[in-house]
Amino acid sequence: MSASETFGGGVAVITGAGAGIGAGLARHASRLGMTVVLADVDAAAIAALREEICAAGGTAIDVVCDVRVATSVQALADKVFRDLGAVRLLINNAGVEQFGYLWDTPLANWQRIVDVNISGVFHGIRAFLPKMMSTARPAWVWNLSSIGGVAVVPLQAPYIMSKHAVLALTECLALEVETAGHADHIHIQAVLPGAVASNIFESAGGVDSGDTGAAESQRAAMLDIKAEAMDPLAAAEVLFDQAVSGRFYLITQPEYVGSAMTERARVLSTQQAPQLREHRRFDPTQN
Ligand SMILES: NC(=O)c1ccc[n+]([C@@H]2O[C@H](COP(=O)([O-])OP(=O)(O)OC[C@H]3O[C@@H](n4cnc5c(N)ncnc54)[C@H](O)[C@@H]3O)[C@@H](O)[C@H]2O)c1
Repeated sequence: MSASETFGGGVAVITGAGAGIGAGLARHASRLGMTVVLADVDAAAIAALREEICAAGGTAIDVVCDVRVATSVQALADKVFRDLGAVRLLINNAGVEQFGYLWDTPLANWQRIVDVNISGVFHGIRAFLPKMMSTARPAWVWNLSSIGGVAVVPLQAPYIMSKHAVLALTECLALEVETAGHADHIHIQAVLPGAVASNIFESAGGVDSGDTGAAESQRAAMLDIKAEAMDPLAAAEVLFDQAVSGRFYLITQPEYVGSAMTERARVLSTQQAPQLREHRRFDPTQN
């Protein structure tokens, strides 16, 4: 089955749809014939995207939702199930970055990472999955981890920690769905993007005191890779095609992210200590 045969006619709910990867996923889901629910804290961004999608002949609604707040995500779910019916695809995508040494990290920035990147995904699962499991209809849940879910990088520890958490949460969730007897129609999938053009590094937190220079030079290093980053629409097309093929790990750049997965497996299997890389990151140009 093609992505449009599988997903066309269904409802897609995408958190963090106002920019970057989420906006690309929303545009592509609409092209596949899905009704798209755009959820974000940035009301202006999702209103503009809703207008763009509708002007192109698609169907979309925008709902302001803060994934940090369980009641906000529950209100989103209640509205979607009431107004649009069954959800075929939930994408827990909203996420934020943080730069700087861990010991310099402001408490509020640590909490922001935990609340958006980890609790936000949990809130999505809690609000949507029981209803998705309650019918025999096929449905998909994608959680956004990252290449940072399998790599270790200094000066981004809270983010890297959160993406490892999302990967583990998603792997456990897949087993739980199977244990509970829903794996015949509920597809849990982990998304591990490599570098994809977005606003994530601009909107990332930094540090107020301590080594602010180290934090900002890491931000600059990450902004440098944006020039070579994948287009979000192209990334979305790859992810939808992989989802239909039944893979568990959905990967925007299979070679580049795959090499990080292989490296992680090698480090763990040889029980080596983490080693500082010269460039402190995986080079996307090696794709
Ligand atoms: N861009 C990349 O290279 C890359 C790589 C790997 C993983 N990811 C992951 O992809 C996801 C999307 O990131 P992106 O790069 O497109 O970022 P982005 O900053 O371009 O977009 C993130 C969106 O999430 C929204 N958002 C932030 N906090 C929110 C909240 N509390 N509730 C609801 N919405 C909120 C923002 O307003 C924004 O529209 C993240 O989970 C990120 O970790 C991105």
